Order: sequence, then C-alpha cells, then structure tokens
Amino acid sequence: MVRTRPIEPPTAPLTDGTVTLRPRRESDLDALAEASHDPEARRWLDDEPMDEQARRTGVARADEAWRSGTAAPLTIADAVTDEPVGMINLQFCSDTEATIAYGVFPQCRGRGIAPRAVRLLAQWALSDLKLEQVILEADERNTASIRVAEKCGFHGLGTRTETVGDSAQRSIVVFALRDSSTG
Ligand SMILES: CC(C)(COP(=O)(O)OP(=O)(O)OC[C@H]1O[C@@H](n2cnc3c(N)ncnc32)[C@H](O)[C@@H]1OP(=O)(O)O)[C@@H](O)C(=O)NCCC(=O)NCCS
Repeated sequence: MVRTRPIEPPTAPLTDGTVTLRPRRESDLDALAEASHDPEARRWLDDEPMDEQARRTGVARADEAWRSGTAAPLTIADAVTDEPVGMINLQFCSDTEATIAYGVFPQCRGRGIAPRAVRLLAQWALSDLKLEQVILEADERNTASIRVAEKCGFHGLGTRTETVGDSAQRSIVVFALRDSSTG
C-alpha cells in the first residue's frame, strides 16, 4: 500500500535551536550534490549521486514528492547560519507508516546533527501527520547510523537480509519509533 494523500510541509521550519529542517532550496543544491558523491553516503544510502540534471531539477523533484505524498525531503540546516549541513527524508509506505533516511555532510559529522534532525522529523510525523510508526533501517555494519537510532529512542524490530546486485547479501537492522502517547 502507498500513501494516498499529499503531505503539507510543516507550517514553520522544524527547529530545536541548533538545527532547522526546512524545504529544499535552490541554494542548497551545490552542497547536496557534492555530498551525494561522498563514499560513506554512497556506501549506505540507496540514492544515486546527483548529476547535473538531478542538480538542476532538485527543487522541483522535492516539491513533487511532497505533492504526490510519496516522500517528505527536507534540508538539515544550521539553525544559526541557515547553511545546509545535511538532508533528511520520510519515505511513505502507507498513510500510517514511513521510513526515515538521512545523511550529514562529511565535515559536519560527529556533532549530533543527525540525532537532532531525526528526533524533530519523527516527532512531527507522529504528532502532526499522525503516523503510527516511523521506521529506520540501517546496514548492520553502519555503526554511526545505528547509534543515531539508539540515541533517538528507536527500538529494534529485528534484522532482515537483502540481496545486493546478483548475489551479495547484506543484513539490515530494522528499528521503529511509535507515538509514546499511544504506546
Ligand atoms: C550516519 C550519520 C547520518 C550520522 O550523523 P552525525 O550527525 O554524525 O551523528 P552523530 O554525531 O550522532 O554521530 C553518530 C556516530 O557517528 C560516529 N562518528 C562520530 N564522529 C564521527 C565523524 N567525525 N565522522 C563519522 N562518524 C563519526 C560515532 O560512532 C557516533 O556515535 P557516538 O556519538 O556514540 O560516538 C552520518 O555518519 C552520515 O551521514 N553517514 C553517511 C550516510 C548514512 O550512513 N546515512 C544513514 C543511512 S541508514
């Protein structure tokens, strides 16, 4: 099942005073395109690196994802300078569940940016979009991402095996966060 409704972006940027999540802007695209080629991002994220065409259409594609209700892509920005420091996205599986994906620019890692961004977006999805749960999936070797899940209070649902290419297999740890008010 896929989501059947468009998603309205947050009426005001989501912020905790250190990071801000806001819709993607034209001025973010050079930094997002450069970061999409980072070897760690390539290793752990399914997204293709952004070529010139993807860079040119980056804002239009993000807007279309919100309109169609397939995904909710946002830029993670420094709350003080408004400079982009990463990206975060919700990919909707249905009207009640979405998978969260994120990346922080290499030079900004290790400062707790991803946990802040994940907490903000997951709480917005559970409270404003009324999702039942947010799913986070990480390769079992991606210790940095698994730490993000743990720091944000996600609980482990289990591990599944995924086939990559013709035969290689990888283990994916699946986490979930549910609305604490509903248990
Ligand atoms: C996973 C990722 C988003 C974490 O973002 P972050 O803002 O650096 O998160 P944190 O600062 O909380 O650090 C998380 C862990 O990263 C590791 N880490 C710390 N400093 C680091 C650095 N300078 N560079 C890389 N990893 C670092 C540590 O294991 C840390 O855990 P700890 O706080 O228990 O020591 C980031 O490493 C990244 O963009 N990786 C590539 C894309 C990716 O893997 N996305 C997730 C796919 S599921």
